[in-house]
Amino acid sequence: MPSTKPATRVPLPACKHTPTPYDGLSRDEILKLRRKYLNPGILTYYKEPLCIVEGYMQYLWDETGRQYLDAIAGIVTVSVGHCHPKITARVREQVGKLVHTTTIYLHPTIVEYARELARRFPDGSGLEVSYFTSSGSEANELATLMARLHTGRHEIITLRNGYHGGSQSTMALTAVGTWKYPIATPAGVRHAVPGYCYRCPFGLEYPACDMRCARDVEDVIRYETPGQIAGFIAEPIQGLGGAVVPPPEYFKIVFDIVRQYGGLCISDEVQTGFGRTGEHYWGFQNWGVVPDMVTMAKGIGNGAPLGACTTKADIAQPMAQRLHFNTFGGNPVSVLQGLATLEIVDEENIQQRAKDVGGYLKGKLLELQEKHSLIGEVRGLGLMLGVELVKDRQSKEPAIAETADVVEKAKNRSLLLGKGGLHGNVIRVKPPMCITKDDCDFLVDCLDVCMEEVSGAG
Ligand SMILES: Cc1ncc(COP(=O)(O)O)c(C=O)c1O
Repeated sequence: MPSTKPATRVPLPACKHTPTPYDGLSRDEILKLRRKYLNPGILTYYKEPLCIVEGYMQYLWDETGRQYLDAIAGIVTVSVGHCHPKITARVREQVGKLVHTTTIYLHPTIVEYARELARRFPDGSGLEVSYFTSSGSEANELATLMARLHTGRHEIITLRNGYHGGSQSTMALTAVGTWKYPIATPAGVRHAVPGYCYRCPFGLEYPACDMRCARDVEDVIRYETPGQIAGFIAEPIQGLGGAVVPPPEYFKIVFDIVRQYGGLCISDEVQTGFGRTGEHYWGFQNWGVVPDMVTMAKGIGNGAPLGACTTKADIAQPMAQRLHFNTFGGNPVSVLQGLATLEIVDEENIQQRAKDVGGYLKGKLLELQEKHSLIGEVRGLGLMLGVELVKDRQSKEPAIAETADVVEKAKNRSLLLGKGGLHGNVIRVKPPMCITKDDCDFLVDCLDVCMEEVSGAG
């Protein structure tokens, strides 16, 4: 059933793209088939799940032809715009030529792409040897495997409130309980506390805290491991955890500790890479550190099933001691999408857009915070923003039902948002990076209207 369309004060910007009339299965038929034939564990958003049949740049259309602003970019996967015309044209051509070979044969695009990706890392970092996968979970599995092979040790340190995947071993790295099943995940993973000042686990205030959170990594290593570790993996800004931005010195302190105990540092850039944080191409560059390995997925291919783990030659070398391959990793279509995405990020100044438009949006969200006591904190960098909702600013009790309600009401007004954090009380705003300031005006007005309603003021 199509949802009704109550007004916002600022209209959703019109789009030059005309969606193709849809004549496929009805939404109810899809839902019925999905309930019968798809695994029930596969998540849907919204009380009445939305059916999306077409996309163009920052907009999506449902089966009734209704347009939405996609402020969560699929699921932070669409970096430069849904069905970006230049990428689509190149992919169409490739699909007509060759879809699949596996990496047992040579193919030009995979090596051209690996070279281009290597050029995007800081000079002198040595980050230049890539292994392509079809997802972020696989990339993270490879990173921890390589860290273990290279160091000859097993223990991996990661952070609470972090998300690194849904396979059994990446579920062990993930430390948000709602995403963990009651099974025994692979051993050798320890969790330290993140730099989450708004909810400091030690109840301290920055900067008087003396970065107690970063120093927890050393305690975890000394108490819970034999004192030598394989590595440390973390997101430069926690994504699913609710756009949690650590204090600026957090990663510098942590990387020093990790290296002191023999570990490799892995930056999970699945959400933060490719200019999304605005100031820099990679999330880790915001913190003045250089990791030994970088994992990527989501925005890397603007929606293609593509992931990668890039590291230094000597760290990758131990992989050659056994047979290893990934059937779909590095296929000609996905790597072409990756290569074309890199080019568009540069050609269209996407990183600068993330900085400018993201800065504008954050400013507007901060203004909204002055109006709505429901907003506990607005945080994030570039176009990776989070709005944490609380029932009461003093107690910081998570506003769980209210967040769900705002997200639901926004959808009914044509705005698609994400939700995150352990309690699901953080609104995640991570749109395709082609979003405009007009879109941001609509987004903020829509949030304003929805919050007025939810808090009973509207
Ligand atoms: C930071 C981060 N790492 C890893 C993953 C896992 O990626 P995938 O779902 O492609 O396996 C995700 C997915 O949300 C993520 O956000």
